[in-house]
Amino acid sequence: MTKLTMTVNGRKMSGDAEGRTLLSDFLRQELELTGTHVGCDTSQCGACTVHVDGLAVKSCAVLAMECEGAEVTTIEGMANKDGSLSVLQQAFQDHHGLQCGFCTPGMVMSASALLKDNPRPSEAEIRHHLEGNICRCTGYHNIVKAVLAASGQPVPEGVTATE
Ligand code: FES
Ligand code: FES
Repeated sequence: MTKLTMTVNGRKMSGDAEGRTLLSDFLRQELELTGTHVGCDTSQCGACTVHVDGLAVKSCAVLAMECEGAEVTTIEGMANKDGSLSVLQQAFQDHHGLQCGFCTPGMVMSASALLKDNPRPSEAEIRHHLEGNICRCTGYHNIVKAVLAASGQPVPEGVTATE
């Protein structure tokens, strides 16, 4: 075991890891940040997406040791300082961008990375960016609406599972 230290959601945090420990397991089991979900453990579903040094990564595809000293942001770090939901999180709620919620942490982390690089993405750009994030419930339409709304763009009408 090796002691690792990284800055997670703005706080220096330490925990033990083996060479093979995945960042997703380190976050959930050592740091008890269970908002990062593990859906597949094989880099396919995107539920485990976090930011490492500002880039969205699937944390089941990264070794914890590779993140020694890194700046990591998880879903627990996405709310506003007063604990209220961020604009993006609120948009997911307002536009019914979640049902069971299992994919939601990864969706929010991926979408926030998109909005950082591209503050007014088109619907096609949103769909393309989120193609690595699988949702079994929503049919994606309301997730796309939430990201459009969070970027201050008009939200199209349309038939969705919740309308
Ligand atoms: S748990 Fe990491 S991509 Fe599915
Ligand atoms: S809301 Fe259930 S998997 Fe996306």
